[in-house]
Amino acid sequence: MKHIIIITGAGKGIGRAIALHFAKASTTQSDFEPVLILTSRTISDLEAVAAECRTSGATVEIIVADIAKMADIEQIVNTTVERYGTIDCLINNAGVGRFKPLTELTEDDYEYTMATNLKGTFFLTQRVFPIMENKRSGHIFFITSIAAETAFKSSSLYSMSKFGQNGFIASLRLYAKSCNVRITNVMPGAVLTPMWGEVPEAMQAVMMMPEDIAIPIVNAYLLPQRTSVEELVIRPIGGDIND
Ligand SMILES: NC(=O)c1ccc[n+]([C@@H]2O[C@H](COP(=O)([O-])OP(=O)(O)OC[C@H]3O[C@@H](n4cnc5c(N)ncnc54)[C@H](OP(=O)(O)O)[C@@H]3O)[C@@H](O)[C@H]2O)c1
Repeated sequence: MKHIIIITGAGKGIGRAIALHFAKASTTQSDFEPVLILTSRTISDLEAVAAECRTSGATVEIIVADIAKMADIEQIVNTTVERYGTIDCLINNAGVGRFKPLTELTEDDYEYTMATNLKGTFFLTQRVFPIMENKRSGHIFFITSIAAETAFKSSSLYSMSKFGQNGFIASLRLYAKSCNVRITNVMPGAVLTPMWGEVPEAMQAVMMMPEDIAIPIVNAYLLPQRTSVEELVIRPIGGDIND
């Protein structure tokens, strides 16, 4: 059976790993034929991930889009529905972070963070949810963060956006429960991805890898429809590494 799966921020890091693991699952799960709609702002990243996914036999589309722009959100949803007729799964993974002490954060840092993490995530979900509501099935994942409920000094803006995502998720659940739509809030601790820039070797050694987040996400999706994994809290074994 075909499963139409949109992954935002699929070009790098956690999103890339989620795409690769959905593709890999198609080789081991009977009757699982993922159609992966990979989206981010950088076409070269998307083309590289798409090529890797296709080697596992997955059908892949790439859509270059900035979820901070309403027209791009429309493009993601309209292109997917025109080509494949529906959306079964949305992975709200695209996110940005600017990590600085409180007094160094600028208005540009604020606008940039909120435009992707809050506005983009909200309006893409708002456009996708009615499609799932109408067919009374679907699964929406949010990759929030440990920083969605734990404070770190350098992540005031980032935490503000991620706490905000939690508020939206809590409200969305009230709609989703009455129409069999599954909502999963994924809260990872530190994962070694391009988001962190240069990372010293000692720190790399205590971080998780993107596949550590991707594997439980794909497993949660593949559970029977009657079961909803509502939260996944995933930390490095030694705990959080920020202060
Ligand atoms: N890494 C961690 O330690 C960690 C921990 C907890 C939660 N998270 C969350 O996990 C998610 C993925 O993080 P990551 O570490 O994998 O980050 P990453 O390596 O920087 O990758 C982020 C992806 O999102 C895309 N993206 C960013 N802004 C976008 C926008 N406006 N429109 C479309 N695509 C956009 C990026 O591609 P382009 O720049 O090409 O668009 C990239 O493909 C984020 O929501 C992050 O907050 C990460």
